[in-house]
Amino acid sequence: MQTKIYAHRGSKGTRPENTLVSFQSAIDAGADGIETDVQLSKDGELIIMHDEKIDRTTNLTGKVVNLTLAELKKADAGIKFSPDYQGEQIPTLKEVIELLKDNNFKGTFNLELKTNHIEYHGIEELVDKQMEQLPSDIHLLYSSFNPNSIRRMQKINPDAEFASLFQFKIKESRQLAKHHLITSLHPDVTWLRERHGLFWPKLLIRPWTVNSVKDMTYCFKKKYDAIFTDYPAKAIEVRKDIQGD
Ligand code: G3P
Ligand code: CA
Repeated sequence: MQTKIYAHRGSKGTRPENTLVSFQSAIDAGADGIETDVQLSKDGELIIMHDEKIDRTTNLTGKVVNLTLAELKKADAGIKFSPDYQGEQIPTLKEVIELLKDNNFKGTFNLELKTNHIEYHGIEELVDKQMEQLPSDIHLLYSSFNPNSIRRMQKINPDAEFASLFQFKIKESRQLAKHHLITSLHPDVTWLRERHGLFWPKLLIRPWTVNSVKDMTYCFKKKYDAIFTDYPAKAIEVRKDIQGD
């Protein structure tokens, strides 16, 4: 079994993160999975954005929660990465699903519920409704740093796969695993390496964010289920060297 390669915010290392060009690049590279982050706009639209504020990645300022979809669509999400991507917009979840469909993508779609700083009321129900548009041959994987979001989404759609994200503290993830609410763990690779791996036979391990050849090599040798990387094309090459075609 090969370690799968999940593109973190798309091909974040070579394209503006969490934009349609970034997801397209990851699909073109042959990524096994696409990871992205969802938040809620002022007018209740499902917005693809990592930070709560749009300042770092776009030419405008403000919080997603305080802006309408129309206002968010005016932001340029490409220019700060490179003038080559000027005009890229902040996508909605609907648009990302459309892109996956247009590409006949058959891998994993990992949607992170970005509810650890702002607990967007009702986001899980809205996401579940939108996911009705996701083709059944795309594997749906939800993750979150917020255990309450996982609990809520698990109740709404127990058929999806659930993973607990954590950077340092594994306690909440242990609780979710104990109650069979998750089947996989998504730890910070630095945390994982400092602890010389993580032995938890019943859970699938998928570290993030695995960008250096050194970290990739470590994860491929450990044969973890998957890695999250900003460089899916590079990871595919490194995997070939270690795990073969
Ligand atoms: O899913 C792995 C990774 O996305 C978690 O961290 O901050 O990049 O969303 P972050
Ligand atoms: Ca994420």
